[in-house]
Amino acid sequence: LHATAFARPWDAHEFERMLCERATQGHALWRAGAMQGFILSRKVADEAEILTVVLAPSARGGGLSHRLLREHLGHLALIGVAQVHLEVDEGNAPALKLYARHGFIRVGTRTGYYAQADGSRATALTMRADLT
Ligand SMILES: CC(C)(COP(=O)(O)OP(=O)(O)OC[C@H]1O[C@@H](n2cnc3c(N)ncnc32)[C@H](O)[C@@H]1OP(=O)(O)O)[C@@H](O)C(=O)NCCC(=O)NCCS
Repeated sequence: LHATAFARPWDAHEFERMLCERATQGHALWRAGAMQGFILSRKVADEAEILTVVLAPSARGGGLSHRLLREHLGHLALIGVAQVHLEVDEGNAPALKLYARHGFIRVGTRTGYYAQADGSRATALTMRADLT
């Protein structure tokens, strides 16, 4: 799933390492026994950072991302997270709309932050949501 979306996908070992850390929080969406999407974040004190969110290409465009993010943010609030941070490619329109709908506001810009498959660099926006 991760490799369907990102030029530099994380490999199985990286996921294994993250999932073994107590700080890592995650939710997944399943249909007919197959994972359709997932979200991972890392909690430190009363803050969390969303590490990745991805839906299978066939599951995109139907609003499932809202369900996944709502469930995840609700869980983070329950375990004491007050602020959530993330980075997103400034050209990723679906992700920007998704985050804006769930209360994320833009707080910064990282020019040339992402390496693209074609060798170019894309700018990241940093965003923050207040869960209190
Ligand atoms: C980002 C992602 C999880 C969003 O899920 P999705 O199912 O595609 O998104 P949705 O259909 O729920 O749409 C989210 C919003 O973006 C809008 N949108 C969808 N495609 C769009 C496009 N090409 N241009 C502009 N807006 C778009 C939708 O209308 C919706 O807006 P709304 O909430 O106002 O109705 C999904 O596209 C994905 O997995 N992408 C690859 C991984 C990725 O980029 N993750 C984010 C990294 S930070």
